[in-house]
Amino acid sequence: MTRRKLAAGNWKMNGLRTALAEIEALRDAFPDPGCDVLICPPATLLAQSALAAAGSSIRLGGQDCHVAASGAHTGDISAAMLSDSGATHVILGHSERRADHGESSALVARKTEAAWAAGLTAIICVGETEAERDAGRTLDIVTTQVIESVPDGAIALTTVVAYEPVWAIGTGRTPTNAEIEEVHTAIRGALASRFSTDVAEGIRILYGGSVKPGNAAEIFALRDVDGGLVGGASLKASDFAGIIRAAE
Ligand code: G3P
Repeated sequence: MTRRKLAAGNWKMNGLRTALAEIEALRDAFPDPGCDVLICPPATLLAQSALAAAGSSIRLGGQDCHVAASGAHTGDISAAMLSDSGATHVILGHSERRADHGESSALVARKTEAAWAAGLTAIICVGETEAERDAGRTLDIVTTQVIESVPDGAIALTTVVAYEPVWAIGTGRTPTNAEIEEVHTAIRGALASRFSTDVAEGIRILYGGSVKPGNAAEIFALRDVDGGLVGGASLKASDFAGIIRAAE
């Protein structure tokens, strides 16, 4: 099965209105990209980002959503609100949310169902800490997160998994190519046993953690790697352009 690669940028809690110029620059540089391109700006910029990307194939995503569609949840954002602001995707279960907000895989699964109900594609993040890797528990931790975070009924069209080793995020360190392949293959195997081979073969599995223009092509060429979820190097169009080209 051919899976179209996805270059996804996660701006995290970065970006004021001046950052919209980066989306405009990407829109102008990639009128017809040879991969899917996604930017996940902070929610405050989502609607304006949608205007900046209008007429292009750049897609926009949120960085989290609540399990409920609406209601008394001060400070939270629903999947329907993300969709209404122009998002087609949402990142769920990022390790920063698992760590900062105590999000469990069970909660991530409920958020994924809320995202699907609103018509969004969920990018479900998993990844081991450095201590877990050192203890030889990487495959066990990651596959368990996948099994518990991806709800029943997953289909390839609306499900993406992102493997982000926690110790590689923002550190400039990455696993070896063999280590990345090993984990991605294990994730696809877990998806196959949880769903079916067909579903598992269709779901894109992104690598995230210190992806840069200089290492993206090598990482994206690895077996079972279907693109990247990029933090720091997605903030500037000039950097992210190199990563998009590596995914094309
Ligand atoms: O979600 C993307 C992210 O966690 C990776 O961040 O800055 O290492 O590319 P970075």
